Parts: sequence; structure tokens; C-alpha cells
Amino acid sequence: MTATVSSLTITTSHGAVLDAVDLDLRPGEVTAIVGESGAGKTTLAHAVLGHLGAGLRRTAGRVEVTGHDPFTPEGRAVLRGRVTGYLPQDPASALDPRRRVLSQLRTAARIAHPGESRRDHDARIRAAADAADFDAALLRRHPAQLSGGQAQRSLLAWTFLTRPRLVILDEPTSGLDPDTARRVSAAFTRLPWEPAVLLISHDRALVDRAAHRVFELAGGRLQAATASPPPVPRPARHRSPDGPTGDGEERVLAADGLTIRRGGVPLLRNASLHLAAGEFVAVQGVSGSGKTSLARALCGLAPPDAGRLCVHDAPVSWDGAARARTGGPFLAYVGQDARAALNPYETVRRMLARAVAAAHRRGIPPGPGPKALLDSLGLTADVLDRTPDRLSGGQRHRVMLARALAAVPAVVVCDETLASLDRTTARLVLGALDAWRRTTGSAVLLITHHDEVAAHADRVLTLSGERLE
Ligand SMILES: Nc1ncnc2c1ncn2[C@@H]1O[C@H](COP(=O)(O)OP(=O)(O)OP(=O)(O)O)[C@@H](O)[C@H]1O
Ligand SMILES: [Mg+2]
Repeated sequence: MTATVSSLTITTSHGAVLDAVDLDLRPGEVTAIVGESGAGKTTLAHAVLGHLGAGLRRTAGRVEVTGHDPFTPEGRAVLRGRVTGYLPQDPASALDPRRRVLSQLRTAARIAHPGESRRDHDARIRAAADAADFDAALLRRHPAQLSGGQAQRSLLAWTFLTRPRLVILDEPTSGLDPDTARRVSAAFTRLPWEPAVLLISHDRALVDRAAHRVFELAGGRLQAATASPPPVPRPARHRSPDGPTGDGEERVLAADGLTIRRGGVPLLRNASLHLAAGEFVAVQGVSGSGKTSLARALCGLAPPDAGRLCVHDAPVSWDGAARARTGGPFLAYVGQDARAALNPYETVRRMLARAVAAAHRRGIPPGPGPKALLDSLGLTADVLDRTPDRLSGGQRHRVMLARALAAVPAVVVCDETLASLDRTTARLVLGALDAWRRTTGSAVLLITHHDEVAAHADRVLTLSGERLE
């Protein structure tokens, strides 16, 4: 047995997150944990690493990894970064933005294998990159030059680098398109050194394919999972490729002649994007195709190389700071990295209050209030007084979305906001977005790798080969 969790109970001031949980992790086996957002999956993964977040307490039970107790300093010293490899849920914040990926991986290889030459280290890095489906040509880039999915795979390579006997992967494919996710998940099941793998994922198709055993966390208890229900795709309601124009429909956004290059690589050439009032448009495209670059350009965070932007038929600057200064329209970007986007010292209550105040300054009447907004996203009022580190990954993404919606932007651009949510919670969030766009008349642009989510949109656009159509 590589790791054993026995009768583990972990509590907060609100009650038990894990309630007498037992789990064995065996060499060469992939064990998956599924469960709704906030069910306690990450808490369990952290416990196997001997880590408890502030506000969490272990009140009973124990954990053993290769005969060591990860909750003791001695155990941690033996296990961390050697016996256990861990891919966290919000991986983008885990890379050092100032250093190239290769140099970060070399440091990790040096620490794990101090006696080896640089050539040996580089051979290990190449093998790990290969196992993680990370293109070795990207190793020389800085983290900011990688897409979310590429950053995720670079960290997966890092996790594999030391050939740990226990590999813990928390939502390892949340930023990946289905094909890439399939290739990456195939790798978990045939890692040549045959580690025990603990896989946390809301993607049941992936879990059913990759895992030998599947458990579900609900109400703090861990049980063998029941078979997953088949997805129910809804047909997309296609309109004209250019979106609704004329016909008396009000246009919220018109971007034309849009050309974007990143690091010398052309992503979009002379593209157009039009959004009608209250419209919901999904954008798809493989990992690295430029979806986030498009989103950031629209939201004034990184200007395109060329193009014109109109919001409510008035020309708008590409520079977000200039928009804010001149009282121009606000386009909100809800990014892939919730941990980085939220102020770690600010409570959810304060965040939402600032967003509401910003809407008020733009003359927008007050909406449903923070409690109702959180409730519509499946969050209880007790998160109001928490800081982001005391939320689960999916809860953090929903708080970031709530903050954006509370500010009532002309367009909310959601970048894989639903990627880390289980199906039930994702449906709830889609419903909340529908209600929001209907009451505000604002548009929703949602970047998603999931066909089931995209099928909910009024239109689906694909970014591929420098075109958006
Ligand atoms: N430090 C903390 N203080 C208080 N409550 C916490 C803390 N950390 C997590 N929680 C709560 O414990 C529950 C489990 O959180 P956990 O992160 O384990 O969920 P999860 O299953 O990983 O969810 P997700 O799928 O959204 O990542 C959540 O309700 C969360 O709000
Ligand atoms: Mg989690």
C-alpha cells in the first residue's frame, strides 16, 4: 500500500468537511475522487500531503504514506517533493513568473537528483514533458507566454519529474480541450514507474476512462461512486455566423478587423465578433489557440495588434485603464486563475460591495444583493465573511464570477469559469448567467472546452487557424 487514510475527520467551525474517511492508494492504480464543488476533495488531497488550511482541524484519524506520517515534520521532510508529487487545482499561480519553465524544472531536477549531470536532468525533463503531453519547444518560455492549458501541462511535467511513488492530481485537465485531456489522461494510467495516482476530477468521462476505482465524496463521507449518467446535450441554437444584426436587435459589442499576435505567433487575423443585447456566445478552440488572448483584448487588458471596438455603437479604446478613466463602458474578464485574481486579504462581502459601488457610480440601479447573487451560484451566505483561501477551488471561481456580475459590465467574458465545476453546479451557474443577462441586457461570452456547456449558448464560435467563426 502506498498510502492509507483511516477514519479521517476534518472540521471547520461550520461542521465536518471530511467525516471518518477511509482510503487506500495502491501502486500502479489510479484512484479517482468525484463530488460536487465544495464536497471536500481538495481537503482530502491536502490531508494526504499533511497540509491543513487555516480554519481546518483534524479531529480524528490518521494518514500514512510509505510508512511515514505526513502530519509530522519528519514525515513531511521525507515525503514532500520526493515520494509525493502534487498538481494543485489552480496551477497557474504555482509557476514563478520571472523564470523560464526550463530553468524552474532544472532547479527541481537538481534538488531531487543532486548527484546527476545537467544532461541527465535534461533527459528527465524531456521524459516528464513527454508524459505530460507538454511540447518541449515551449520549455524556453516564461509562464506568461503559455496558455492556461499549457501552463497546466508544464506543471504536470513538474509533478512527474521526480518519479514520485504517489502522484496527486487535483483537476489536472480543467484547462484542456477534450483531445488534449484524453491524451494527458491516457498518460496517468501508464506512467512507467507505476506510482499510486490520486485523481480528482469533475469530468466523469475522463474519470471512467482513466481510473481503476472511483469514489464519491458527499456530506463528508466517501463511498464507491455510482455509474455516471450520460450527458444530455442540447442542440445549439445557431443564428447567422456574424450574429444578430439589424432586425431591431440592440448590439452590445462589435469588434472588427481584429488581429492578434502573441510572441510572434499570429492567433487572429482580421476577425469580427458581434454580440447582441442579452446574448450568450460560447468560444471554443484547442488549448493555446488564443481564446484567452481574445478575451483579454476585449476586456482592455492586452490590446490587439489591430482592430476597432464599439460598445453600444460608440467607439471604445482598447486600453482598459483609459476606459475606466474616461467613464467608458466596462467589460469584465473572469479569468482562469481565481487565486491570482482575488485579493487574498479581502472578504467576499467587501469584494461584492466594491463591485456594487462601481456599478452604482456608472448609474446602474442596484441588483438582487450579495446574498441572492451568491445563492443563485450555489454559494451559502457563510462564505461572505471568508477570504479566498478559505474557499474550495470551484467556490473561488464562482465568487470571482459573482464579483463580475455584481459590477454589471456591458459584457462578461468568462474564461473557463465552469471548467472546475461538477455538472450539477455548472448547470446552476449557467442558469444564473441566463437570469443575469435577461435582467441586465448585458452579453455573456464564455470560453469553454466542454461541448455540453457550449450547447447551452445561443451561438458557438470556434477559434482556429487565425479565424473566429
Ligand atoms: N480554510 C477553510 N476554512 C473554512 N472552510 C473551508 C476552508 N477550506 C475549505 N473550506 C470549506 O470546506 C469545503 C470543502 O472544500 P474543498 O476545497 O475540499 O472542496 P472541493 O471538493 O475540492 O471543491 P471544488 O470542486 O470546488 O474544488 C468547502 O465547503 C469549503 O468552503
Ligand atoms: Mg478542489
